[in-house]
Amino acid sequence: MKAVILAGGTGTRLLPLTRLMNKHLLPVGKLPMICYSIEKLKEAGITDILIVTGRDAAGSFTSFLGSGRDYEVSLTYRVQEEAGGIAQALELARPFVAGDRKFLVLLGDNLFEEPLKPHLEAFERQPEGAMVLLKKVPDPERYGVPVFGENGAILRIDEKPSLPQTDSCVTGIYLFDNSVFTFIAGQTPSQRGELEITDVNNAYAAKGLLKHSLLSGWWTDAGTFESLYEASAKLMGTAP
Ligand code: DAU
Repeated sequence: MKAVILAGGTGTRLLPLTRLMNKHLLPVGKLPMICYSIEKLKEAGITDILIVTGRDAAGSFTSFLGSGRDYEVSLTYRVQEEAGGIAQALELARPFVAGDRKFLVLLGDNLFEEPLKPHLEAFERQPEGAMVLLKKVPDPERYGVPVFGENGAILRIDEKPSLPQTDSCVTGIYLFDNSVFTFIAGQTPSQRGELEITDVNNAYAAKGLLKHSLLSGWWTDAGTFESLYEASAKLMGTAP
């Protein structure tokens, strides 16, 4: 299976650091953030990886990671000209995964403990559709929040709801079949002007094609100073 790491966006919650460098190159513990995504993919046996990032940062990524040779992976790059949303960045992966039925997507600011392999295997057994990985969190209103039907399946995902209906969030670890590009093509920008990944997942859910799996190890998105600090402490082994 191939994988896509989305590492574009503006990183506004980490200003002024992100005026100096792309969020995914900021240090977390002893390494730039992007290295952890690559490590997690390698651990799952995935070595064919596309990195999508913004125009200003692309040179820093290629200069630091090169072809991926030092990490024993093969890296391909695509440039997202403007930060028009996660689904817009994902659309750039279409030629990279052409011909493959299924692939994995990581938001590059998601850091986590658990191996991906069991979830990949579960998705391989799923005949079609998409799978999202969920995590119980104390502050679901910061994320996409699943709403479950009586049969336990996801009915829909509410993006950053003021009144979350569950204590789980949708993490930035997604497994898609290649119909995702048809779903993206059917989307229109949200109120904030972005193509939202939650709308894409909701299109799968509306067809009964969105499955889920729960992460049990620690997980954080390192998009704020608090979560960046928390992730650093975990990865340095200095967390309480
Ligand atoms: O971390 C999980 C959450 O990620 C989910 O629960 C939400 O449903 C999902 O919308 C997303 O929310 P965020 O507000 O955290 O997304 P953010 O804009 O911070 O972008 C997350 C990653 O996606 C970031 O690492 C960079 C990448 N990205 C984002 C945008 C907007 C791109 O590559 N291009 C983009 O245009």
